[in-house]
Amino acid sequence: MKISKRKTTRKDELKGLILAGGKGTRLRPITFTRAKQLIPVANKPILFYGLESLQQAGIQDVGIIIGENGDEIQTEVGDGRRWNLRVSYIHQPEPLGLAHAVKIARDFLGDSSFIMYLGDNIIKEGIRAFTERFQEEKPDALILLSPVKDPQRFGVAELKGGRVIRLIEKPKKPPSNLALVGAYIFNSSIFEAVNAIKPSWRDELEITDAIQFLIDHRRKVSSYIIQGWWKDTGKLEDLLEANRIMLEDIQPKCLGEVDSDSTIEGRVVIEKGSHISSSLIRGPAIIGEGVTIHHTYIGPFTSVHHRVTIQDSEIEHSIVLEGSQIQGIPGRISDSLIGKDCILTRNTAKPLRHQFVLGEKSQVSLT
Ligand code: TTP
Repeated sequence: MKISKRKTTRKDELKGLILAGGKGTRLRPITFTRAKQLIPVANKPILFYGLESLQQAGIQDVGIIIGENGDEIQTEVGDGRRWNLRVSYIHQPEPLGLAHAVKIARDFLGDSSFIMYLGDNIIKEGIRAFTERFQEEKPDALILLSPVKDPQRFGVAELKGGRVIRLIEKPKKPPSNLALVGAYIFNSSIFEAVNAIKPSWRDELEITDAIQFLIDHRRKVSSYIIQGWWKDTGKLEDLLEANRIMLEDIQPKCLGEVDSDSTIEGRVVIEKGSHISSSLIRGPAIIGEGVTIHHTYIGPFTSVHHRVTIQDSEIEHSIVLEGSQIQGIPGRISDSLIGKDCILTRNTAKPLRHQFVLGEKSQVSLT
């Protein structure tokens, strides 16, 4: 048996705090039964990108805040040894805000400085340089910023010589184009702030209010600007964009079977146990394990998860979760997120009709 030699945390080592609770209302109905942080992007759960980034930044101890769909996260991530991390779980009974998550993580964090990482965010360049800056400069808080075209939609920072002097949520007249990205580094002075602030109009303890408290109490709040791609995957369009960006980087491979009537174009990953017959797959696309594809067109930017069956259909720019079946759908499916074990078929029996069994908040759009 291989025993990993994992050190105990040194005093100046950063801990990680990943926020994977929340309600995920913008991704219903998927999030009724599944944590949004486990939705796969290029067939890998979003949360795993964050865990990899923390591991690459040399972090060893990670606390994950979990909410009502937390069991599945615990099952998927386990004790973290797959990433050579030590993972603990902190249950947040209700999603009372990002600063509330920090508050309830006090026992886990102790007096260590820590990086707080929003579990539905993907930061393509990772966070290594960000954590290094914190270790060099040792401010009380270091916030991650990114130039955006539409700062009105984000939390925005006003800077003076690299120091943050004000944070404003969704400003009508933005003082800069620098939006807050979902990662922050704090030392233990943040606890004074999260304990002092009051819930906002939406009844949440806001991390922006806690950071503003630090600024107002003359604590040093610095910023680090990233130029690379990042995304908060909280809603469908952003999830599809993340899927697009991550598929751009896949290395083609074929571990499944492709018959001579099929064509594979561009960068395509086909995992083991999959069977492709009489079909065209145009990458970038990824096909998971045990997938059956017959007489079908799979277009660019499509991720098909394990044990899916697609027959006599066309689909592109979409994410299909595990175990779903798509058969004989007329027209092309596009820009879609199809949940786990969904069945989409064509009804050929008389009387011809559309027949639906849809859960709460499902969305169907027919041509
Ligand atoms: P959000 O996307 O801001 O909130 P949400 O998950 O409730 O989504 P929605 O607005 O669609 O209802 O949260 C950002 C990340 O932080 C996400 O990974 C969930 C997590 N989170 C917590 O862990 N605890 C909380 O109290 C909140 C508000 C969010």
